[in-house]
Amino acid sequence: MNIIFHEQTRTFHLYNDEISYIMTVLPSGHMGQLYFGKAIRDREDFSHLLEDTFRITASYLSEEQNTMSLEHLKQEYPVYGTTDYREPAVEVIQANGSHLSNLQYSGYRITDGKPKLSGLPATYTEDDSEAKTLTITLKDPLTGLAAELLYTIFAGGGALARSVHFINQGTEILHLGRAMSLALDLPDCNYEWLQFSGVWARERHLKTRSLEPGIVSVGSLRGASSHEHNPFIILKRPHTDENQGEAIGFSLIYSGNFLAQAEVDNQDVTRILLGIHPDTFDWKLEPGADFQTPEAVMVYSSLGLNHLSQTFHRLYQKRLARGYWRDRPRPILINNWEATYFDFTEDRLVTIAGKAKECGVELFVLDDGWFGARRNDSAGLGDWYANKELLPNGISGLSRRIEALGMKFGLWFEPEMVNEDSDLYRAHPDWILRTPGRSASLGRHQHVLDYSRKEVVDYIYEMMAKLLREARISYIKWDMNRYITECYSAALPSDRQGEVFHRYILGVYDLYDRLTREFPHVLFESCASGGARFDPGLLYYAPQGWTSDDSDAIERLKIQYGTSYCYPISCMGSHVSAVPNHQVFRSTPLYTRANVAYFGTFGYELDLNKLTADEQEEVKQQIAFMKEYRELFQFGVFYRLRSPFEDNYTSWMVVSPDQKTAIVGWYKTLNHVNVPFTRVRLQGLAPDLCYHLEDSSLSFYGDELMNAGLITSDSMCGELTGKRPSCDFDSRLFILKAY
Ligand code: GLA
Repeated sequence: MNIIFHEQTRTFHLYNDEISYIMTVLPSGHMGQLYFGKAIRDREDFSHLLEDTFRITASYLSEEQNTMSLEHLKQEYPVYGTTDYREPAVEVIQANGSHLSNLQYSGYRITDGKPKLSGLPATYTEDDSEAKTLTITLKDPLTGLAAELLYTIFAGGGALARSVHFINQGTEILHLGRAMSLALDLPDCNYEWLQFSGVWARERHLKTRSLEPGIVSVGSLRGASSHEHNPFIILKRPHTDENQGEAIGFSLIYSGNFLAQAEVDNQDVTRILLGIHPDTFDWKLEPGADFQTPEAVMVYSSLGLNHLSQTFHRLYQKRLARGYWRDRPRPILINNWEATYFDFTEDRLVTIAGKAKECGVELFVLDDGWFGARRNDSAGLGDWYANKELLPNGISGLSRRIEALGMKFGLWFEPEMVNEDSDLYRAHPDWILRTPGRSASLGRHQHVLDYSRKEVVDYIYEMMAKLLREARISYIKWDMNRYITECYSAALPSDRQGEVFHRYILGVYDLYDRLTREFPHVLFESCASGGARFDPGLLYYAPQGWTSDDSDAIERLKIQYGTSYCYPISCMGSHVSAVPNHQVFRSTPLYTRANVAYFGTFGYELDLNKLTADEQEEVKQQIAFMKEYRELFQFGVFYRLRSPFEDNYTSWMVVSPDQKTAIVGWYKTLNHVNVPFTRVRLQGLAPDLCYHLEDSSLSFYGDELMNAGLITSDSMCGELTGKRPSCDFDSRLFILKAY
């Protein structure tokens, strides 16, 4: 890994074994983008890659520079309004109403390691030898605005982290109307755009389309990264697949409103923009003030989508997630939500926990309904103290009883919300986000607290911390069940209302930060009506997230498969739930529910007392199995093998870092009669090692499994592993061990 600056040509080259990123100072003083892709040999001059020429209708910067049309140059951080008609990365509004800016190169700095981003989640290094950071400073001579472009290249892997830090070094007040974290101009548009979209209970479904001239974008204006779109996109070459070909992934480490966009211009250049959504953003910069954008990470892979995902997985698992739980196998939990909803007593909870303990579960989680006047979802949010009618001995009493069973205790909160029917709202009705003179819309009978105000965050922090200090709580599920409407803060002046969405998220990060610092051993699981804020921003504080409220195994195939394009298995909350399933009313075999949930953090979301004795026995075996292999499931190298977005079958696998153990998951949606054999070509094995297939007398060399494949179809499987007749929603795990 290195960062080179060629003085003569004023060219920067960041590279490691996998990637090169090259940019130069243009004759006009702007920063030009030359190359991002597979590592290439360094040279003094790459300016031939500029592709600047006189074009007939182009506006140009001056008579002396008539090939200098910013419209036709690939740039690092394009501004609004001077010869470039594409959407810019930044827009600065002056007091006189001008929206123009002119960010000129003024210097650079190369440092070892990676600086922290104040108040924001970001990737990090544990040792300065792990990365190098280049800071390029741009300045607008007229306004005095400085923009520091930060680029971090890591020692290994195809990832580059970027962000921008603005400082108003002038004397007039400026407004940032747009401040994207990343812009990248690519020389052609021969790409397919992959996005991960959906809705509640159907999150992160893979959608693919070809790029054409014009704009394609996904984003969120909901105050959260959202169920609808994830702050992650991929551009891949049309022939790229999971195991070969070029692709670039773009991920934003942020949990609020975002925009991810590709614009193909009149010469087929593709401009990628990624950052805070400009539509709800306006940040006032007083003289001397600064603004830090969230971090964006881009990953280049020349070896297909699995390699791209594995780069994100490694980086996000090891250098974005933090703390005590980062590297630890996660506890197998039982959550009472689908078992009881709001209908529980202390004794009923203990009965559920007792049976779970008998089966081997390690952590009992009490979900919604334990606090204030909460008997249904229209009251109580904001009052984070136990409801004494339900829990006469409080949370401390219940957690003591759970711990006496030999389990850990976990608790649900929804700290950002308030019901009108709550003591908090009665005391502070002005603490919610609402616009003066307008009605305040509701979602799930609740309002959103104004987390842009420090006193609100302080208050909630004190309430939560008190409980965490008093009771033995080992895990917190942090929920967020409605989006923001009528966004306005009573505490901010009119010219700062465009800051509220971002300040809100900074408040959420602040609360997470304080709690995780005071209670470093508590495991946090983020949740937002399932997966509405399943993003890298929260992964920095909570090493796992509830992937979706849809707990049906077949629905989960698509959700977990789609999620895996960016996010590691260790962060995907996945549970076995009851049948018929509570979201889709489908009945799937117990083994299939577990076979899907193993590829995640694993747990149960039902009352195990209600299962038959045989089923309870099966659950015991599942838990014993997960305890044996969870390290491999959660921290192994994950490969997608067969996509649920394409047909009736899904397959994926994990391989241990030493390549000696692998587990393949194979799933069938509907059963058909007299069908062809199915087979999957495995990935990531050692070609020369001989793998024994557990529960059979068969062995195969790695090269055979990766080329000829493993036959997974029913007739063969019957012989190989099972006595079961095949059925709808069938599944199998193949465990391969090399000796
Ligand atoms: C959200 C969560 C669920 C559950 C309920 C409780 O929907 O996603 O898992 O916690 O809230 O109200």
